Amino acid sequence: MIDHARAGILPDKPHTVFRGPDGALLHEEMLTRGGFDGPFAYLYHAHPVTAARRVEEIEGFAAPARAEAGMFPNQRRLYDANALWDRLAEAGGAASRTRTALLFNDDVVLSLSAPSEPDPAYFANNDGDDLHYVMSGRGRLESSFGWLEFEAGDYLHVPRSVIHRVHPGAGLRLFTIEGRRDVVVPSNFRNPVGQLTMNAPYTERDFVRPTAPIASHGALPDGPREVLVKRLDRFTRLSLERCPMDVVGWDGYLYPFTFAMRRYQPKTGQLHLPPTVHTTFVGASYVVCSFVPRAVDFHPEAIPCPYPHSSVDCDEVLLYLAGNFTSRRGVGPGCVSLHPAGLPHGPHPGAYEASIGSKWTDESAVMLDAFKPLWPTPAALGVERAGYQASWASPE
Ligand SMILES: [Fe+2]
Repeated sequence: MIDHARAGILPDKPHTVFRGPDGALLHEEMLTRGGFDGPFAYLYHAHPVTAARRVEEIEGFAAPARAEAGMFPNQRRLYDANALWDRLAEAGGAASRTRTALLFNDDVVLSLSAPSEPDPAYFANNDGDDLHYVMSGRGRLESSFGWLEFEAGDYLHVPRSVIHRVHPGAGLRLFTIEGRRDVVVPSNFRNPVGQLTMNAPYTERDFVRPTAPIASHGALPDGPREVLVKRLDRFTRLSLERCPMDVVGWDGYLYPFTFAMRRYQPKTGQLHLPPTVHTTFVGASYVVCSFVPRAVDFHPEAIPCPYPHSSVDCDEVLLYLAGNFTSRRGVGPGCVSLHPAGLPHGPHPGAYEASIGSKWTDESAVMLDAFKPLWPTPAALGVERAGYQASWASPE
């Protein structure tokens, strides 16, 4: 959903007779959002998309569940996501089967996975967009729109209902932000014709799209003939007459893409700028921010370290990625912190003073600010690090 893109063969006009080289009629599918008023894409299939021989409900990855003991008492929390990723990697499996929720509310689910093998069936998430952050490793996304490579440091965006499967490379670990509706580029980064503005932290060139459909007429792939559809966190298996990867052309504004976080252009002020300057994507009631290495505040008396704050409307989640986290002790890559709304948080003792005079920070992190309370799951509770709340206290 960045700009208009196209690949493969297309008819001159939508909804008209369109035949392949052998004279056979191709079949149009429209993928639409906002009813029929939002962004959309046209896909041209070699076969009708409606043929399913069998439809049955099956088990998929578990729906997120609340862990009361992870919510109360109301306090700052830290999770060792690496421990959970290690466990998931050891168990192995496919991306669509091993996703494990960490934190969630009605609008967003944050999950981890460490897939080790390709999905045996295609997957379509009808509950929302999936925005994966690739923590480590690499892989390939196979979708109706074509192949898309991704690697550590990328965001990988898969729009709602797009049929796809993940082919993991070695060491793949994903942090998934599942928007229960859309996860998109903020509208204030677009001008009236939809182009990304010069003030946006990225340009259209920073996004990578599939460049060619997987199928070409006369050369249709022989992949799985099953699609797992997730709706309301329950899974339905559609057994199809043939592999659904039969798209020979598409165009529109809806397609999977990657965005490498290192391409995010950070902003620096004379004095400390609010976290909103790191906004990258937005969802129904949350924002996703990217903290990348950057010059820090340049006023001679500036305190570059983030000021202590009580953000009364937001639960704040930070996934620490790399670098030296100037404001925190005892956290490292793969740690996830949760700072509930209204509780003051800020630098650990000593960090505030130590940051004076610094010119640069090499920290990088993904942040999610949610305007509805986030519930920890039992999986989060299982990897919670004790003592985080007390780590700000002075030694007795
Ligand atoms: Fe904060």
